[in-house]
Amino acid sequence: MCGIIGYVGTQDAKKALVDGLQTLEYRGYDSAGISFFTDNKIKTIKKVGKVSNLRENVKASASDMESHCGIGHTRWATHGGVSDTNSHPHTAGKVTLIHNGIIENYKELQDELAEKGVFPVSQTDSEIAAMVINDLYDGNPEEAIRLGTAKLKGAYGFCIMFEDIPDTIYAIRSGSPLVAAHTEKGSLIASDMVALVSYTKQYFVLKEGHLAKITKDEIIVKDEFGDIYGPTIHHISWDVGAAKKGGYDYFMMKEIHEQPESLRNTIKPRFINGLPDFTDDGVPDSLFEGIDKIVITACGTAMHAGLIGKNMIERLARIPVTVEIASEFRYQNPIINEKTLIITISQSGETADTLAAIALAKEHGCKTLSVVNVKQSSIARESDYVLYTHAGPEVAVASTKAYSVQLSVMYLLAFKLALITGNVSENKIREYTAEFADIANKVEETLSYDNQSENIAKRLAKAEDIFFIGRGLDYMLSCEGSLKLKEISYIHSEAYAAGELKHGTISLITDNVPVIALATQPDVYAKVISNVQEVRSRGAKVILITDSDASVDASLCDHQIVLPETSPIFTPFLSVVILQYLAYYVAVEKGLNVDQPRNLAKSVTVE
Ligand code: G6P
Repeated sequence: MCGIIGYVGTQDAKKALVDGLQTLEYRGYDSAGISFFTDNKIKTIKKVGKVSNLRENVKASASDMESHCGIGHTRWATHGGVSDTNSHPHTAGKVTLIHNGIIENYKELQDELAEKGVFPVSQTDSEIAAMVINDLYDGNPEEAIRLGTAKLKGAYGFCIMFEDIPDTIYAIRSGSPLVAAHTEKGSLIASDMVALVSYTKQYFVLKEGHLAKITKDEIIVKDEFGDIYGPTIHHISWDVGAAKKGGYDYFMMKEIHEQPESLRNTIKPRFINGLPDFTDDGVPDSLFEGIDKIVITACGTAMHAGLIGKNMIERLARIPVTVEIASEFRYQNPIINEKTLIITISQSGETADTLAAIALAKEHGCKTLSVVNVKQSSIARESDYVLYTHAGPEVAVASTKAYSVQLSVMYLLAFKLALITGNVSENKIREYTAEFADIANKVEETLSYDNQSENIAKRLAKAEDIFFIGRGLDYMLSCEGSLKLKEISYIHSEAYAAGELKHGTISLITDNVPVIALATQPDVYAKVISNVQEVRSRGAKVILITDSDASVDASLCDHQIVLPETSPIFTPFLSVVILQYLAYYVAVEKGLNVDQPRNLAKSVTVE
């Protein structure tokens, strides 16, 4: 959720921190702040607004201050409104800290401190954590952090500085991610490796409960018993340019255009002799044997990829699949056991509810497989098996390329499961995979629909409500199209199974209400067209997306978008590009910040 960074080294710490926060801003952008040692004292600058605002403030008030050590934070507000005071870092006595996560028992700790006559200045749970640690601090920082964090319930990633220990940062985590690296220019710790990649490609993940002491010359990690621990070093496989806009106005547009490459990287290595193969991923076929049910659980866009995964797996492998929103799955006492395969899908690999769903699945003895984009993330580490998607870093809050590659892995899984259950012949699977191997080129072709999409989007921008309808795969894709549109354009939107529309929602269809209808599936094509006629006769403006085979009476819709030629089962990969474009251009037309929609964050590490 929030982005955090610590730097100590030879460079100007203020610049290192603000630059690092800029890369982490997608994690939260309500406010930003830094604290740094200067003249052996800690100076804090924190402001409501974007990191660019913080940068101006730092320039204006601290450009002459020398500093080589500090911590920085970009906030997505949970406890306490958006204000300068509630911004991080928080200071209590000798302790200054930044926090990502939620301290659930902060009220009770606050009451305890109040009895000692100590009161917070902000409304945040994070300041209470600083106060707890300060209360226990008598010159031994590690002991104060250990004793202090033992009192906390909830999730945290902390970077902590002590006023009387200059040029040193301590870090500890529980639930929230932290990665660190030691380089020639100094040592860094952050909530995501995008903040490290301009310094190094080697990093390590700070483990749960481990405590890091970070100085210019080294990072010393101790485990929960106080023993020194040598962390495993990982390598970032993408380039620093991958986390930059590269000439595009917004990351979202860049990431839409990266879909063909992401798909190639994700699909190609997993075909051997024309058949899906997960040997290099360390996922054995035996994982899929003896399972009688699959539960896919995820949040947001990743959950929508799961919906299409369900359709494909049930269609091809005939194994029952349910798709559960992770935050619901956790609390509904699910009927799962050792014969259930739990598949979690996550771009960040850090979504708190998805992570908790894995823990629950393990308690029930289920096998767990995750489909994750970020290497070594918490979800990847907690799952029995992982199939990584290879989209590279996704920065725009609205997910695009991560969705496409999640879909591609769900298709590969469906092909694999169909072979294992024997429900589809090997020859037929080879036919599918031969076409699937070319899907990235088809997506590339669909990228040329930008002008057409932009022209339509300009007319949609004034709408107050926009509806998406479809059946089967098209309905599942509509859910994603509607989410994309509402999250970045702030236009109310709903996705409806086209046949369900007349059970209530059609009462909202009046003159000029836009309806985006997907009709790419031949088996239900005629039915969707009837539903289109129903909304047209009530005044709707219809944008119809069809496959290349559909013959449409021109009077049936206001705009028709005909997809490049492909088999019906693969149309989601193409339709989604159009839906992403429509959402993008509507948001641009409205003058909104496409990459950082209000109230949202890319990585949701709180429940
Ligand atoms: C947030 C993001 C979405 C994402 C969802 C799940 O809401 O804004 O884009 O789909 O979290 O995130 P995950 O990282 O688990 O895919």
